[in-house]
Amino acid sequence: MNTIEELFQTGKYLLREYPCPALESKLLLLASTSMTEDEFLTMPKKKPSRISQRRFYRLIFKRLHGFPLVYLTGEKEFWSINFKVAHGVLIPRPETELVVEKALELMPQKNPLIADIGTGCGNIALSIAKELPQAKIVATDISSTAIQISRMNASLQSVSNVTFIQGNMYEPLKRSGLKKKFHMILSNPPYVSLGEWKKLPQEIRDHEPKEALVAGRTGLKFIKQLIQDAPEFLKPRGYLIFEIGYNQKERVRAMFGNGWKEVHCFKDINGIPRVYAARR
Ligand SMILES: C[S@@+](CC[C@H](N)C(=O)[O-])C[C@H]1O[C@@H](n2cnc3c(N)ncnc32)[C@H](O)[C@@H]1O
Repeated sequence: MNTIEELFQTGKYLLREYPCPALESKLLLLASTSMTEDEFLTMPKKKPSRISQRRFYRLIFKRLHGFPLVYLTGEKEFWSINFKVAHGVLIPRPETELVVEKALELMPQKNPLIADIGTGCGNIALSIAKELPQAKIVATDISSTAIQISRMNASLQSVSNVTFIQGNMYEPLKRSGLKKKFHMILSNPPYVSLGEWKKLPQEIRDHEPKEALVAGRTGLKFIKQLIQDAPEFLKPRGYLIFEIGYNQKERVRAMFGNGWKEVHCFKDINGIPRVYAARR
């Protein structure tokens, strides 16, 4: 039986070709032993159970075969909240925090009704829900796995002001009789073109859900529908706020017709146009 320290060093050595072998070895060790970071630091001589040791080596093996670290640890931090993530659900990206930031900045009132289209693990909806406990949020996704994981995240975060409904784009809102009811519609829709997807790193192509990323040949299929159908569900002066791809600013701007006001595109921390906000 090996000690924590020995397992950690072995993992670090096996993952030596990866950019952060020490960090990855530690995270996989914590995930396979259910130890806290404090225990990891203060009990290097502790011997985890045989089952935990086997689990650790299994995770290392999967990582060496290109599995994303987040799917192995099962968690990703977003808006300072730990979200459960699993195969079949997109791993939240830090740039999407700009959607949350802008939504909170532009929020017209303390008890709004908000929609999140394509919620994934629920990262946008639950981040807003925790910031605004008086808000009511309806989050939709076409994927049943996403709906299951997002409901689990809501329960783990003790959030009760978000309703998750499976369905295509706005269809669950229509079904629920919610036309012209929303103060805000938020989304991080699929926006990668088929050509771009083929050039993404293999780790993403092989493991993350293609349907969460790809939006047809141009990457604009979902964004076009998001803008076109939003007026049916927004209150007068309601906001539509959503993420776009790094090269889509101009093409997306051209999709906003006359009924839209205060159309702004905000840059992310890397200076890339990333989030559109527009008002009816
Ligand atoms: C780019 S991911 C965003 C996930 C999450 N909101 C985030 O920020 O990480 C897009 C999400 O849209 C969902 N989706 C794809 N097509 C959809 C559709 N037709 N209707 C509703 N959701 C859809 C995917 O399942 C995926 O969860």
